[in-house]
Amino acid sequence: MLQVSERPSMIDLFAGCGGMTVGFHREGFRSVLAVEWERSAAATYAANFGESHTHWGDIADVTEDQIPEADVIIGGPPCQGFSNLGSKDVNDPRNKLWKEYLRFVVTARPQVFVIENVQRFSKSSEFQLLLSEADHGIIKDYELSYGVLLAADYGVAQRRPRTIIIGSRIGKIDLPRPTHARVPTGDLLPWETVRSRIGGIDERPATTELPRAFTEYFGERIPGLFKGMDIHFGRQPTQLSLDRYDHVPPGGGRFDVPPHLLPRCWREKSTGTTDVMGRMRWDAPSLTIRTEFFKPEKGQYLHPQWDLYDRDRRVNRVITHYEASLLQDFPKDYLWCGTKTEIAKQIGNAVPSGLAAAIAAQIKRHLH
Ligand SMILES: C[S@@+](CC[C@H](N)C(=O)[O-])C[C@H]1O[C@@H](n2cnc3c(N)ncnc32)[C@H](O)[C@@H]1O
Repeated sequence: MLQVSERPSMIDLFAGCGGMTVGFHREGFRSVLAVEWERSAAATYAANFGESHTHWGDIADVTEDQIPEADVIIGGPPCQGFSNLGSKDVNDPRNKLWKEYLRFVVTARPQVFVIENVQRFSKSSEFQLLLSEADHGIIKDYELSYGVLLAADYGVAQRRPRTIIIGSRIGKIDLPRPTHARVPTGDLLPWETVRSRIGGIDERPATTELPRAFTEYFGERIPGLFKGMDIHFGRQPTQLSLDRYDHVPPGGGRFDVPPHLLPRCWREKSTGTTDVMGRMRWDAPSLTIRTEFFKPEKGQYLHPQWDLYDRDRRVNRVITHYEASLLQDFPKDYLWCGTKTEIAKQIGNAVPSGLAAAIAAQIKRHLH
């Protein structure tokens, strides 16, 4: 067993607003560097974890001497495209951000690194690059474990599938085993539900706006800091939108809306996109929370409260930013910076902390 300091150190690359870091800190890790180039996301990260180790800027501009040693590197380089399956051309320009990630691994020499990405990642040229570098290239002393994990299987109230890769030079580290299941057996627990996260939160938000507040990070003036209830604001849907929402029961979607209320493009599309204008269910996890969760036409984002017989007991609105943050497993007291759209992007892009914590716990067992 390797001896490491009491609290293992970590670098978070493409850190966003820090969802993954939340999970790793919960398991006792401490951050020595985070890199993020979107100003508002970097500010949210800095507000919650400290500005001194937060690098706001392009990862490509971080020089080798600015990269500290760390026990673990985490992060998900964005994938540019997935159409190039089979191409092993490591000079493909789309691989640039991946090469940056690997540059950090080679420089910081962590014992373990973690890559998080979308489910289809295994069909990308970036994945081919990674496999070839681990096979005979610059990270050949790391053994990889990889697979698609479902956040709900790790106690998150969301069915969010993510590709997770753990690279280790201290012996292969398996992906963490699920702790929850839809139909639990043995010592598995049942999936967490939307109710367990957002039940009891005011169903009728008192405002449609963020408070007017500004803060300073990286020498710049940024909207914030906002606390949980500050981002619990509603929208102002038209009467036509409200009429549409009113027809959608929990688990239902655009097919529950009478044709005369639908836009022509939906009326003419009789199959597919079943999540569109969907309503969540109280007693199940949500579907994936994406960056545009505030648009009902983008997925299953209507509030779960709906009663067949009592129209007063229907909540005809999308989930608020606060509710989305809780379904994404952020703590209730998390602080936020940015405009409404920027905060939504930060939330939708994040790795739910419960999933990150399960990975962190698995790695920590090996470090000690
Ligand atoms: C999927 S998000 C990361 C989410 C984060 N792991 C979390 O859990 O909250 C990817 C992030 O990479 C950032 N990014 C993309 N290209 C970058 C670059 N060249 N340098 C720094 N950050 C970059 C994006 O702004 C985005 O916030």
